[in-house]
Formats: sequence, structure tokens, C-alpha cells
Amino acid sequence: MKKSKIKILISAGPTREAIDPVRFISNYSTGTFGFEIARQAKRRGHQVTLVSGVTCLKGPVGVKIRKVGTALEMQKAICEEIKDNNCLIMNAAVCDYRPLKFFKRKIKKSKKAFNIKLIENPDILKGLGRFKENRLLVGFAVETENVLKGGLAKLKEKNLDLIVAAKISKFHSPFGSAKISAYIIEKQGKYQKITNATKPEFSRKLLDRVEGLWYTIFQSKQGR
Ligand code: CTP
Repeated sequence: MKKSKIKILISAGPTREAIDPVRFISNYSTGTFGFEIARQAKRRGHQVTLVSGVTCLKGPVGVKIRKVGTALEMQKAICEEIKDNNCLIMNAAVCDYRPLKFFKRKIKKSKKAFNIKLIENPDILKGLGRFKENRLLVGFAVETENVLKGGLAKLKEKNLDLIVAAKISKFHSPFGSAKISAYIIEKQGKYQKITNATKPEFSRKLLDRVEGLWYTIFQSKQGR
């Protein structure tokens, strides 16, 4: 059977939640993994769109890129782009919370302590999981403990097809590191453990799984 190309939307990088004109809350994501997945997917001939938080990376050649700042901006861009895509690889590290109030003027250091009230951001992936239609949804999870169990729970909670779950500790972080060790978990709990892979190597293995699932679930249906 001739393999058709997939329209893949990939999110990458951190979101930034502004406190005042000079400060924000964010996380350690560098975007390198998401950008690498986009580069490898494009190389395989897929149609690739990248929605990226602030990074210092150059977009891969031939990939449409939309740059965003906050989680709300990322949600808007993804919801617009998802309509033209049949697979989402949600690699972005979305901030779960944002400051309730944006201080228009720079906050001066006038007090010994300062509280900032945070409110919840929408869970972009979970929202899309509710209106999945004929799409493949791939998530990422970073856990300090119970990586497999936590990853599978997120896969089920967000109605995903695959999830990449990695451990994070004081001594090892997948953020910005050259090599990745993680599980690729499927719906039924079946998993593949990948150890010490470079980001290009890991991306290729992940795309093998994505393509495999895509052709089994969707192309076989269309071929009937
Ligand atoms: N995600 C999202 N929107 C959010 C938070 C997370 O779309 N507001 C996505 C991430 O891009 C990732 C997946 O959900 O693909 C899991 O993210 P993770 O931060 O590991 O888990 P959370 O659901 O945020 O749960 P927790 O932080 O409590 O572990």
C-alpha cells in the first residue's frame, strides 16, 4: 500500500506568562526537541506546521512556523491550525498557571515579600482530546516519579493515542539535554523504552510509531 503523507502540527518550546513589562513566569524548555521532530517529519515528506513558544532556534526549512508567547496565544494558534492537520504532536511546555493580574508598570522592590496570585491556564491538549475526530494526538509528560503510570494516566485523561514520558530529577533533566531517555506509551499500556538517544534518533523512533499508528488506524479505514 502506498503510504500517504501526514499533515502534522507540532508545538514546541515554553510559554511565558507575563507579570509586568520586564518579568515573566516560564519553565526550562528550550524547544530543541520539538524543532527536531519538525525537522525529521519534514525530511520524511510530511506537511509540517510548528507552533513555537519563545526560543532562539531557527525554524526548519520548509516548515510553516507560528511564534507565540503565552499559553493563551498558543491555544489560539493551535486551535486555528489543527483544522488543517490530522496529527498533533504536543511537545510544548505549557505553563499550567498565569498571573491573575498583569502589572502595567514595573513592580518596584518596595517590600520584603511579594505575592503573585496565579490562575489556571487551559489544558490545550485535553481540550482537543474532547473533539478529536479523525486525528492522532501525541502528548509529552515529564514526571519526577512513577513515569510509566503517570504517563499512561495522562494519555487516558487527555484521550491521546501516544505519549512520551520522561523522568526529571535534580540530577537529570530532559530540558535542553543532548540525549533523551523516555518511554513511548500506547493506549493499551504497551510501551517502548528508549535510552540515551540523541534528539534526532528519538524523533525518528517517535515518527516511526506515529506513522505506524496513522496507517493502521486511518489509512486502512480509507482504503476499505
Ligand atoms: N499541556 C497542555 N496544556 C497545558 C498543560 C499541558 O496542552 N496547560 C500538554 C503538554 O504539552 C503535554 C501534556 O499536556 O503534551 C502533559 O503535560 P504535563 O505538563 O506533563 O502535564 P499536566 O497535564 O500539566 O499535569 P501536571 O503538570 O500536573 O503533571
